[in-house]
Amino acid sequence: MTLKTDYPGHDRLYRQRRQQGQRGWDDDAQWLVWKSEIERSIADPSFPRSGSILELGSGAGDVALLFAERGYRSAGIEISPTAVAWAREKAIQHGLAVEFVQGSVTDLSHWDEDSFDAVVDGHCLHCIIGDDRKKVLSETYRVLKPGGLLYVSTMCGEPKEPDVVKQYDPATRCMVWSGVARRYLGKPEDILKEITDAGFSLARHEVRSNPGTQDDLIAFARK
Ligand SMILES: C[S@@+](CC[C@H](N)C(=O)[O-])C[C@H]1O[C@@H](n2cnc3c(N)ncnc32)[C@H](O)[C@@H]1O
Repeated sequence: MTLKTDYPGHDRLYRQRRQQGQRGWDDDAQWLVWKSEIERSIADPSFPRSGSILELGSGAGDVALLFAERGYRSAGIEISPTAVAWAREKAIQHGLAVEFVQGSVTDLSHWDEDSFDAVVDGHCLHCIIGDDRKKVLSETYRVLKPGGLLYVSTMCGEPKEPDVVKQYDPATRCMVWSGVARRYLGKPEDILKEITDAGFSLARHEVRSNPGTQDDLIAFARK
């Protein structure tokens, strides 16, 4: 069964967030939590100490800008034109050079093979549904240098939050609203298998159980 998707629909949400004066996808409190996760991942011994990083689903740019601030050559790909324009404005404001590309993570043809030392899932993989997930992982494999790192941080497990429970379709493990599959809540072992099926070697992983919110699977894998 092919599920209906609407990745460009994220643009409407970014337009609302900009109007509301939010900093990006996350509010300030959510950003602090996510930022500290990114900082922990950078500090991990397996994370490259320098080089080039691509963020998948770079939104309004905060993560890719953080990498640029730390001296990495940083790039991001994002489906929402509003978010890309917002991210480019922030890069100019902060005097940081980041390549923000508007496009879908299912097609990374903007970059040659072996382009990046690391690819970071900017909480985007759980937005990708069905066979598109294979495309993202095979494209990610292609653009990573041999030995390059894939960092995944993705919602997983059983639905916990009331809204998620309401929208959850157990047959597909997707959150579906208005007839569109919008988030995939895979079992950790299934997501890990997708990663290894794409050719990656799993370095390590953990499931973070978050009280009251969805669990996250954190995975470090190598090309
Ligand atoms: C949870 S948000 C995180 C945004 C950003 N990484 C951050 O940390 O602020 C997930 C992002 O993935 C983007 N996205 C969803 N589907 C996409 C696709 N097919 N291609 C590119 N970006 C996509 C969304 O527009 C959204 O910006």
